[in-house]
Amino acid sequence: MGNKPIFIVAGVGNASGTGAAAAKVFAQAGYRTALIARDATALEKLASQLTDAHAFPIKDYSVQSIHDVFAAIRKQWPEDQGHEIRAALWNTGAAVWKPFLEITDEEVKEGLDINIAAAFAFSRNIILEFKKNSLNEIGKRGTLIFTGATASIRGNVTTSSFAAGKFGLRALSQSLAKEFGKQNIHVAHAIIDGVILTGRQRDRHDEDWAKNADVRLDPESIAKSYLFLANQDRSALTWELDLRPAHEKW
Ligand SMILES: *[C@@H]1O[C@H](CO)[C@@H](O)[C@H](O)[C@H]1NC(C)=O
Ligand SMILES: *[C@@H]1O[C@H](CO)[C@@H](O)[C@H](O)[C@H]1NC(C)=O
Repeated sequence: MGNKPIFIVAGVGNASGTGAAAAKVFAQAGYRTALIARDATALEKLASQLTDAHAFPIKDYSVQSIHDVFAAIRKQWPEDQGHEIRAALWNTGAAVWKPFLEITDEEVKEGLDINIAAAFAFSRNIILEFKKNSLNEIGKRGTLIFTGATASIRGNVTTSSFAAGKFGLRALSQSLAKEFGKQNIHVAHAIIDGVILTGRQRDRHDEDWAKNADVRLDPESIAKSYLFLANQDRSALTWELDLRPAHEKW
Protein backbone atom coordinates (compact mmCIF):
# COMPACT_ATOMS: atom_id res chain seq x y z
CA MET A 1 0.00 0.00 0.00
CA GLY A 2 1.35 3.43 -0.94
CA ASN A 3 1.77 6.08 1.69
CA LYS A 4 -1.21 8.25 2.30
CA PRO A 5 -0.68 11.91 3.18
CA ILE A 6 -0.96 12.68 6.89
CA PHE A 7 -3.47 15.15 8.36
CA ILE A 8 -2.80 16.35 11.91
CA VAL A 9 -5.62 17.83 13.96
CA ALA A 10 -4.99 19.47 17.33
CA GLY A 11 -8.11 20.15 19.37
CA VAL A 12 -10.44 17.18 19.15
CA GLY A 13 -11.91 17.69 22.64
CA ASN A 14 -14.27 14.86 23.47
CA ALA A 15 -14.75 14.14 19.76
CA SER A 16 -18.13 15.84 19.38
CA GLY A 17 -17.13 18.95 17.41
CA THR A 18 -15.13 20.43 14.55
CA GLY A 19 -11.86 18.59 15.23
CA ALA A 20 -13.49 15.15 15.12
CA ALA A 21 -15.58 16.07 12.07
CA ALA A 22 -12.44 17.25 10.26
CA ALA A 23 -10.67 13.99 11.13
CA LYS A 24 -13.58 12.03 9.61
CA VAL A 25 -13.82 14.13 6.47
CA PHE A 26 -10.06 14.06 5.83
CA ALA A 27 -9.91 10.32 6.56
CA GLN A 28 -12.66 9.74 3.99
CA ALA A 29 -10.67 11.84 1.52
CA GLY A 30 -7.72 9.47 1.86
CA TYR A 31 -5.57 10.97 4.62
CA ARG A 32 -4.03 9.22 7.58
CA THR A 33 -5.09 11.22 10.61
CA ALA A 34 -3.13 12.12 13.74
CA LEU A 35 -5.55 13.08 16.50
CA ILE A 36 -4.39 15.38 19.30
CA ALA A 37 -6.39 16.23 22.43
CA ARG A 38 -6.26 15.92 26.20
CA ASP A 39 -9.11 13.39 26.44
CA ALA A 40 -7.31 10.09 25.71
CA THR A 41 -10.45 7.95 25.96
CA ALA A 42 -12.39 10.02 23.43
CA LEU A 43 -9.36 10.08 21.12
CA GLU A 44 -8.88 6.30 21.19
CA LYS A 45 -12.55 5.79 20.47
CA LEU A 46 -12.49 8.17 17.50
CA ALA A 47 -9.27 6.60 16.17
CA SER A 48 -10.91 3.15 16.26
CA GLN A 49 -13.77 4.46 14.10
CA LEU A 50 -11.53 5.85 11.36
CA THR A 51 -9.28 4.21 8.79
CA ASP A 52 -5.56 4.79 9.41
CA ALA A 53 -6.02 7.09 12.38
CA HIS A 54 -3.92 7.24 15.52
CA ALA A 55 -4.54 8.92 18.88
CA PHE A 56 -1.82 11.17 20.32
CA PRO A 57 -3.14 12.31 23.71
CA ILE A 58 -1.32 15.18 25.40
CA LYS A 59 -1.46 16.21 29.03
CA ASP A 60 -1.76 19.91 28.23
CA TYR A 61 -1.35 22.41 25.41
CA SER A 62 2.04 23.64 26.63
CA VAL A 63 4.77 24.42 24.13
CA GLN A 64 6.74 21.39 25.36
CA SER A 65 3.79 19.04 24.91
CA ILE A 66 3.31 20.29 21.36
CA HIS A 67 6.97 19.64 20.48
CA ASP A 68 6.78 16.20 22.14
CA VAL A 69 3.65 15.18 20.26
CA PHE A 70 5.36 15.83 16.92
CA ALA A 71 8.16 13.48 17.98
CA ALA A 72 5.50 10.87 18.81
CA ILE A 73 3.80 11.32 15.43
CA ARG A 74 7.15 10.90 13.64
CA LYS A 75 7.84 7.77 15.69
CA GLN A 76 4.51 6.33 14.54
CA TRP A 77 4.93 7.35 10.89
CA PRO A 78 8.68 7.82 10.22
CA GLU A 79 9.96 10.21 7.63
CA ASP A 80 12.42 7.63 6.25
CA GLN A 81 9.48 5.39 5.39
CA GLY A 82 8.13 8.08 3.11
CA HIS A 83 5.39 9.42 5.36
CA GLU A 84 4.55 13.02 4.57
CA ILE A 85 2.54 15.45 6.64
CA ARG A 86 0.44 17.36 4.11
CA ALA A 87 -2.36 19.02 6.07
CA ALA A 88 -2.93 20.29 9.59
CA LEU A 89 -5.64 21.94 11.63
CA TRP A 90 -5.17 24.01 14.77
CA ASN A 91 -8.60 23.75 16.34
CA THR A 92 -7.98 24.27 20.03
CA GLY A 93 -8.28 27.36 22.19
CA ALA A 94 -8.73 28.59 25.73
CA ALA A 95 -12.05 30.38 26.11
CA VAL A 96 -12.70 32.45 29.20
CA TRP A 97 -15.99 34.33 29.01
CA LYS A 98 -15.94 36.80 31.88
CA PRO A 99 -16.16 40.54 32.49
CA PHE A 100 -12.69 42.02 32.35
CA LEU A 101 -12.33 42.75 36.09
CA GLU A 102 -13.15 39.15 37.00
CA ILE A 103 -10.40 37.64 34.88
CA THR A 104 -7.44 36.44 36.94
CA ASP A 105 -3.77 36.74 36.05
CA GLU A 106 -3.66 32.94 35.74
CA GLU A 107 -6.49 32.97 33.21
CA VAL A 108 -4.75 35.65 31.18
CA LYS A 109 -1.58 33.55 31.14
CA GLU A 110 -3.42 30.37 30.21
CA GLY A 111 -5.16 32.20 27.37
CA LEU A 112 -1.87 33.45 25.99
CA ASP A 113 -0.14 30.08 26.46
CA ILE A 114 -2.78 28.07 24.60
CA ASN A 115 -4.16 30.55 22.07
CA ILE A 116 -0.81 31.99 21.08
CA ALA A 117 2.36 30.28 22.38
CA ALA A 118 1.13 26.73 21.69
CA ALA A 119 -0.16 27.79 18.26
CA PHE A 120 3.30 29.15 17.44
CA ALA A 121 4.89 25.83 18.48
CA PHE A 122 2.37 23.85 16.41
CA SER A 123 2.97 26.10 13.39
CA ARG A 124 6.73 25.81 13.72
CA ASN A 125 6.59 22.01 13.65
CA ILE A 126 4.14 21.97 10.74
CA ILE A 127 6.07 24.49 8.64
CA LEU A 128 9.29 22.51 9.17
CA GLU A 129 7.48 19.35 8.02
CA PHE A 130 5.90 21.03 4.98
CA LYS A 131 9.28 22.42 3.89
CA LYS A 132 10.53 18.83 3.43
CA ASN A 133 7.72 18.01 1.00
CA SER A 134 7.94 18.41 -2.74
CA LEU A 135 5.06 20.07 -4.58
CA ASN A 136 2.00 17.83 -4.81
CA GLU A 137 -0.24 17.51 -7.87
CA ILE A 138 -1.94 20.85 -7.06
CA GLY A 139 1.33 22.70 -6.57
CA LYS A 140 1.50 22.84 -2.78
CA ARG A 141 3.72 21.48 -0.04
CA GLY A 142 0.95 21.48 2.53
CA THR A 143 -2.07 23.26 4.01
CA LEU A 144 -2.25 24.64 7.55
CA ILE A 145 -5.69 25.75 8.74
CA PHE A 146 -6.57 27.68 11.89
CA THR A 147 -10.03 27.70 13.46
CA GLY A 148 -10.98 31.25 14.38
CA ALA A 149 -14.15 32.70 15.84
CA THR A 150 -16.30 35.83 15.84
CA ALA A 151 -13.83 36.96 18.53
CA SER A 152 -11.00 36.82 15.93
CA ILE A 153 -12.20 40.17 14.60
CA ARG A 154 -14.59 41.51 17.27
CA GLY A 155 -14.12 42.00 20.98
CA ASN A 156 -17.19 42.00 23.20
CA VAL A 157 -18.21 42.52 26.81
CA THR A 158 -16.91 39.19 28.15
CA THR A 159 -14.25 38.30 25.61
CA SER A 160 -11.18 40.40 26.46
CA SER A 161 -9.05 37.31 27.08
CA PHE A 162 -10.55 35.09 24.37
CA ALA A 163 -10.57 37.83 21.72
CA ALA A 164 -6.98 38.82 22.52
CA GLY A 165 -5.96 35.20 21.92
CA LYS A 166 -8.02 34.86 18.75
CA PHE A 167 -6.82 38.20 17.33
CA GLY A 168 -3.29 36.96 17.98
CA LEU A 169 -3.95 33.66 16.24
CA ARG A 170 -5.34 35.50 13.20
CA ALA A 171 -2.25 37.70 13.10
CA LEU A 172 -0.03 34.62 13.25
CA SER A 173 -1.93 32.92 10.42
CA GLN A 174 -1.81 35.97 8.18
CA SER A 175 1.91 36.43 8.77
CA LEU A 176 2.57 32.77 8.00
CA ALA A 177 0.44 32.96 4.84
CA LYS A 178 2.55 35.88 3.60
CA GLU A 179 5.91 34.42 4.57
CA PHE A 180 5.39 30.84 3.41
CA GLY A 181 3.05 31.29 0.47
CA LYS A 182 6.21 31.93 -1.52
CA GLN A 183 7.24 28.37 -0.71
CA ASN A 184 3.86 27.00 -1.81
CA ILE A 185 2.74 26.43 1.75
CA HIS A 186 -0.93 27.31 2.08
CA VAL A 187 -2.00 28.88 5.37
CA ALA A 188 -5.67 29.63 5.96
CA HIS A 189 -7.77 31.08 8.75
CA ALA A 190 -11.48 30.35 9.17
CA ILE A 191 -13.71 32.69 11.16
CA ILE A 192 -16.48 30.53 12.59
CA ASP A 193 -19.07 33.25 13.11
CA GLY A 194 -21.71 31.47 15.15
CA VAL A 195 -22.34 28.64 17.58
CA ILE A 196 -21.19 25.17 16.55
CA LEU A 197 -23.35 22.13 17.22
CA THR A 198 -20.94 20.39 19.61
CA GLY A 199 -21.88 18.11 22.51
CA ARG A 200 -21.50 20.97 24.95
CA GLN A 201 -23.71 23.34 22.93
CA ARG A 202 -26.37 20.65 22.55
CA ASP A 203 -26.51 20.57 26.37
CA ARG A 204 -26.94 24.35 26.51
CA HIS A 205 -29.66 24.67 23.88
CA ASP A 206 -33.02 23.08 23.26
CA GLU A 207 -33.88 20.37 20.79
CA ASP A 208 -35.33 22.82 18.21
CA TRP A 209 -32.04 24.70 18.05
CA ALA A 210 -30.08 21.51 17.50
CA LYS A 211 -32.43 20.44 14.70
CA ASN A 212 -32.47 23.79 12.91
CA ALA A 213 -29.58 24.00 10.44
CA ASP A 214 -30.44 27.67 9.80
CA VAL A 215 -29.26 28.83 13.23
CA ARG A 216 -26.11 26.87 14.14
CA LEU A 217 -23.06 25.50 12.37
CA ASP A 218 -22.72 21.81 11.73
CA PRO A 219 -19.20 20.52 12.52
CA GLU A 220 -19.22 18.36 9.42
CA SER A 221 -20.15 21.32 7.22
CA ILE A 222 -17.20 23.26 8.63
CA ALA A 223 -14.98 20.22 8.02
CA LYS A 224 -16.03 20.07 4.38
CA SER A 225 -14.97 23.70 3.96
CA TYR A 226 -11.60 22.80 5.50
CA LEU A 227 -11.15 20.00 2.98
CA PHE A 228 -12.06 22.44 0.23
CA LEU A 229 -9.24 24.72 1.45
CA ALA A 230 -6.78 21.82 1.41
CA ASN A 231 -7.88 21.00 -2.14
CA GLN A 232 -7.36 24.53 -3.48
CA ASP A 233 -4.54 24.75 -6.01
CA ARG A 234 -1.72 27.26 -5.89
CA SER A 235 -3.23 29.62 -8.44
CA ALA A 236 -6.18 30.56 -6.21
CA LEU A 237 -5.59 30.22 -2.48
CA THR A 238 -7.84 31.53 0.27
CA TRP A 239 -6.15 32.99 3.34
CA GLU A 240 -9.37 33.72 5.19
CA LEU A 241 -12.93 32.56 4.95
CA ASP A 242 -15.86 33.04 7.26
CA LEU A 243 -18.65 30.61 7.90
CA ARG A 244 -22.03 31.33 9.45
CA PRO A 245 -25.49 29.74 9.43
CA ALA A 246 -28.10 31.11 7.00
CA HIS A 247 -30.19 32.93 9.61
CA GLU A 248 -27.40 34.64 11.56
CA LYS A 249 -28.38 37.98 13.06
CA TRP A 250 -25.26 39.02 14.98
C1 LIG B 1 -21.85 40.64 22.57
O1 LIG B 1 -22.29 40.42 23.87
C2 LIG B 1 -23.66 40.67 24.08
C3 LIG B 1 -23.93 40.53 25.57
O2 LIG B 1 -23.54 39.26 26.04
C4 LIG B 1 -24.48 39.70 23.23
O3 LIG B 1 -25.86 39.97 23.40
C5 LIG B 1 -24.08 39.87 21.79
O4 LIG B 1 -24.74 38.90 20.99
C6 LIG B 1 -22.58 39.72 21.62
N1 LIG B 1 -22.22 40.02 20.25
C7 LIG B 1 -21.56 39.15 19.49
C8 LIG B 1 -21.20 39.63 18.15
O5 LIG B 1 -21.24 38.03 19.89
C1 LIG C 1 -18.93 15.87 25.06
O1 LIG C 1 -19.11 16.65 26.22
C2 LIG C 1 -20.41 17.24 26.34
C3 LIG C 1 -20.43 18.05 27.62
O2 LIG C 1 -19.45 19.02 27.61
C4 LIG C 1 -21.47 16.16 26.35
O3 LIG C 1 -22.75 16.74 26.37
C5 LIG C 1 -21.35 15.29 25.12
O4 LIG C 1 -22.27 14.23 25.18
C6 LIG C 1 -19.94 14.73 25.01
N1 LIG C 1 -19.83 14.01 23.76
C7 LIG C 1 -19.22 12.85 23.66
C8 LIG C 1 -19.14 12.27 22.28
O5 LIG C 1 -18.71 12.29 24.59
